[in-house]
Amino acid sequence: MTSGNLCQTPFGIFQLTRYPARREEPLQAWCAADLLLLEEVHRLETPGTDILVVNDEHGALCVALQPRELWTDSALAALALQGNLTSNSRGQVPVTWSTAEPAAGAALVALRIPKQLPYFQYQLAVLARLTAPGTTVLAAGMDKHLSPRVAALLEEYIGPTERHRGQRKARLFSSRRDDRQGPAPVPAARYYSDTLQGELQALPNVFSQDRLDGGSRLLLEQLPALAHASLLADLACGNGVLGLSAFRRGLASKVLFADESAMAIASAQANAARLFPGDSSQFIFHHGDGLEHCGAPAAELILCNPPFHLHHVVDEYAGRRLLEQCARRLQPAGRLCIVANQHLDYLPTLRRYFSRVERLARDRRFVVWLAQLD
Ligand SMILES: C[S@@+](CC[C@H](N)C(=O)[O-])C[C@H]1O[C@@H](n2cnc3c(N)ncnc32)[C@H](O)[C@@H]1O
Repeated sequence: MTSGNLCQTPFGIFQLTRYPARREEPLQAWCAADLLLLEEVHRLETPGTDILVVNDEHGALCVALQPRELWTDSALAALALQGNLTSNSRGQVPVTWSTAEPAAGAALVALRIPKQLPYFQYQLAVLARLTAPGTTVLAAGMDKHLSPRVAALLEEYIGPTERHRGQRKARLFSSRRDDRQGPAPVPAARYYSDTLQGELQALPNVFSQDRLDGGSRLLLEQLPALAHASLLADLACGNGVLGLSAFRRGLASKVLFADESAMAIASAQANAARLFPGDSSQFIFHHGDGLEHCGAPAAELILCNPPFHLHHVVDEYAGRRLLEQCARRLQPAGRLCIVANQHLDYLPTLRRYFSRVERLARDRRFVVWLAQLD
C-alpha cells in the first residue's frame, strides 16, 4: 500500500486504485468533488441504505458510503468499484446501468456531475420521477468541468437549489426535491449517415451523438481499401457507425461491437436492429473494458476510433492500452485500422505490437493507420 493511494474521508481511510491501473499512476482515484460530497453526507448523517450514488468514477463514494445502489453508464467505473470494494474488504454495492432505472425511494442522492449535459438532464429527469418530495440531491464536480447551467438545471428538474462555496477547485450543489414538473424529455439525438443510407440514433451519453466525428469520417473513407473479414470488431463503438458501415459495404460477415458505455452498446444495438432487421444473428455486443472477457472468437479485423479520455481526464493512455489489447485479441495475421488525432503519436505503440504498420490517410486533424500482425 502506498500513501498516494490512501483516501482520507470522514467515513475512514480507504486505499483506492484507478481502473485501468498502471505502473507509476500519475492520477488519484478520487478528487475534491468526491470529498465535498462525502463531507456533506457525513454532516447530514444519512445511512448508506438510504443513499443512491450516481456516476461514481473509481468507487471513492461507494466504498466510503456503502450505498443501496450505484447508477452508472461506465463498465470501467464498475470494474474500479469492484476492485476497491475487494481491496478494502467492503460489502458489495449493486450496480444499475444507465439504460435501466435505479429503485425509487432513496432519501439522498450523491451525484458526480457528468461531462455531457444531455446525459445530466436525462439523469435529473429520471431522478425527479423516482424521488419523493423532501429528498436531498447533492451534486458536485470539479470547477474546470462544470457548465454554468448546473444550478439552473438542478432547479428546473429537482427543486430549490443552493450553490455552495467553492473549495479545492470543486463545487457542491444541494437541491431539495419538491413537487415541480420538470421540462419535457430531451429528444434522442440522431444524424443521417451517408455510408449507411439511414439514421443513427444515440442515447444521451454517447460520443458524437448528433454528427459524424471527423476522425470516424476519415476512417470510413478508407473502408474500400480493406480486405473482407469473417469477423470484424468495432472497438469503442459509440453508436456503432464504423461497424455498421463496414457491414453495409459487405466488408464483414459478422460484427462485434464493444464499448465501456452502456448507452453506447444500447444505441449500437438499436441502430443495428433498425438498419438491418433480418441480420440480428450477425451481430455481437459487449459492454466492458474493450475486448477483455468478451467471450467472442478472435476478430480478423478491428476498426477503432479510440478514446482519448479516461472519465474527465484527457489521457493518451486510454487509447494506447486498447492497441495492446487489439494485438492480443486479434487472429494471427489480424489487422487493426485505427484513426487518431494528429497530436496523439500512436505510431511507436503500433510498431511495438504489430509487424507491419502503414499510413492509409491523413488530413489536417487526423491520421488513419493500418497495422497487421504476423
Ligand atoms: C472517440 S469515441 C468513438 C465512438 C465511435 N466509434 C464513433 O466513431 O463515433 C470512443 C469510444 O470509446 C469508448 N471507450 C472508452 N474507453 C473504453 C474501453 N476501455 N473499452 C471500450 N470502450 C471504451 C467510449 O465510451 C466512446 O464510445
